[in-house]
Amino acid sequence: MTLRHIEDRDWPAIVELEASAYADCGLSEGLDALQSRAFPATSFVLDAGGAVAGYLLALPYPRFRYPDLARPEADRFDTSNLHLHDLVIAKRYRGLGLARRLLARLTATARDGGYGRISLVAVAGTAGFWSAQGYRGHPRVPVPAGYGPDAAYMSRTLVTRPHHPRKKARQWPAIAISSAGPS
Ligand SMILES: CC(C)(COP(=O)(O)OP(=O)(O)OC[C@H]1O[C@@H](n2cnc3c(N)ncnc32)[C@H](O)[C@@H]1OP(=O)(O)O)[C@@H](O)C(=O)NCCC(=O)NCCS
Repeated sequence: MTLRHIEDRDWPAIVELEASAYADCGLSEGLDALQSRAFPATSFVLDAGGAVAGYLLALPYPRFRYPDLARPEADRFDTSNLHLHDLVIAKRYRGLGLARRLLARLTATARDGGYGRISLVAVAGTAGFWSAQGYRGHPRVPVPAGYGPDAAYMSRTLVTRPHHPRKKARQWPAIAISSAGPS
């Protein structure tokens, strides 16, 4: 299993995985929207022998705001808030700590890039998962119906060096990670 940045050839598999996770609850977005929310330096896949076992898409986005699922992003934002738009692990690879590995990479990338916070919208009953990963809810931040009935805006603050200037996040090399997953 390899954790690496997204390459063009990954997109058909990412779209398929996204649809398998969200089509039933009406949250699937499709290729253009997903690509528009995948900032190359802060988005990753898990490559299991050429198959996409999971992905994480994140992009700089103003605090307390979130993408409109009905349309692709039109703007790029210069902000110290990194928004984790989506994280999916293929069903057969769940429960192996892989989401945690992707999140650890995102957190390291965010710190390295000088981001002070990571935000997200928890959907499909995953608020408990995010709480366990250190994210806290902001009940006063409304989330539109398009995100589903139990969606919640959440965020975690990152400890960065004081006045550490935000810089272009670096490209990480692909790394092999171990998992006790299916062979
Ligand atoms: C949520 C999801 C990403 C978790 O992936 P995963 O690789 O199975 O998670 P991990 O194995 O890294 O689990 C890490 C921890 O979270 C816990 N966990 C996993 N899914 C959970 C859930 N839905 N609710 C609460 N806790 C959960 C695990 O038990 C584990 O706990 P531990 O540290 O005590 O062992 C995966 O179930 C998924 O892709 N779901 C569909 C898409 C989705 O809902 N994404 C989030 C949208 S905001």
